[in-house]
Amino acid sequence: MSAAYDTSPKPLQDLHERVALVTGASSGIGEAIAEHLVRRGVHAALFARRSERLEALAERLSVHSEGEHPGETLVITGDVRQEEDVQRAVQATLDRWGKLDIVVANAGFGYRLSVVEGDTQRWKEMIDTNVYGLLLTLKHGVAPLLERGSGHVIVMSSVAGRVPTPGGAAYCGTKFAATAIADSLRQEVGPKGVRVTTIEPGVVISEFQQVAQYAPEIVPNMLKGAEPLVPTDIARAVVFALEQPAHFAVNEMVVRPTGQAYP
Ligand SMILES: NC(=O)c1ccc[n+]([C@@H]2O[C@H](COP(=O)([O-])OP(=O)(O)OC[C@H]3O[C@@H](n4cnc5c(N)ncnc54)[C@H](OP(=O)(O)O)[C@@H]3O)[C@@H](O)[C@H]2O)c1
Repeated sequence: MSAAYDTSPKPLQDLHERVALVTGASSGIGEAIAEHLVRRGVHAALFARRSERLEALAERLSVHSEGEHPGETLVITGDVRQEEDVQRAVQATLDRWGKLDIVVANAGFGYRLSVVEGDTQRWKEMIDTNVYGLLLTLKHGVAPLLERGSGHVIVMSSVAGRVPTPGGAAYCGTKFAATAIADSLRQEVGPKGVRVTTIEPGVVISEFQQVAQYAPEIVPNMLKGAEPLVPTDIARAVVFALEQPAHFAVNEMVVRPTGQAYP
C-alpha cells in the first residue's frame, strides 16, 4: 500500500519571494503578521483604513541589517466593507508583483454588550466588517490563488468563534460565521491546491480592547491572572502554518494564553 505514496518527509517551505495581502495591517495582529512575513522575505501589501499607520509600518520594515533579505511592502488604504477597495487592493498587489500567494483576512473588531443593550449601528458595522468584509476579501483575494492552483488563506477568527459568551452574542456570531466561512472555503479550494487556515486566538493584548470599548474588568476576568498573548505569538502561529510543506494543511489553530480557561 505505502508504495503508492511518496512517504519521504518534505522540507518546510521557504517563504522568500512569496506575495501576501494582509488586511488590518495597521495595528495589532495584522501588523505583527506583516512584519514577520516581510522579515522572512515575503512581499506584503498592507491594507487598512489608517494610511499613516501603514506608511509608518512600511518605513519601519524598509530598515534592515546587512545580510537580511526582507520583502518589499505596498501600502493600500481602504475599507474591507467596500468591494471596490478590496478589488483595488488585490489588483494593486497583482500589478506590483505579478502574483498573489497568501491572503491574510485579519481585519475586524469586537464589541461586547448584551443582546438587549447592544447598539444596533455598532452591530451593523461589526457584521459588515467581520463577516461581509471577510467574504469580500476571500471572494476577490482567493480568485488569483485558484488561477495558479496554489496558495494559502489565513482567516482570523477567535475563540469567540468556538465558545459563545454572555455579552458576546454579536461578536461571537461574527466569529462563528468567520469559522464557518473559512471551513466552507477550505472544502471548495483545498482540492484545487489552495490551503485555508483558521486561527482562533484567545486574549491578545492589542488595540482590540480599546476599539471594543471593553470595561476595565473584562480582560482580567478572562485571564484570571494568566499572562495574555501578544500579536507576535499569533504571527508565529501563522508562519508555522505557512511554512508547512504543500501537502500539509493546518486547518485550524486555537491559541489561548496557557492560563486562560474561558472562553
Ligand atoms: N485581540 C484579541 O484578543 C483577538 C482575539 C481573537 C481574535 N482577534 C481578531 O484578530 C483580528 C485583529 O485584531 P487585533 O487584536 O489586531 O485588533 P486591532 O489592533 O484593533 O487591529 C484591527 C485591525 O483591523 C483593521 N480594520 C478594522 N476595520 C477595518 C475595515 N473596515 N477595513 C479595513 N481594516 C479594518 C484596523 O485598521 P484600521 O482601523 O486602520 O482600518 C486594524 O489594522 C480581528 O479580526 C479580531 O477579531 C483578536
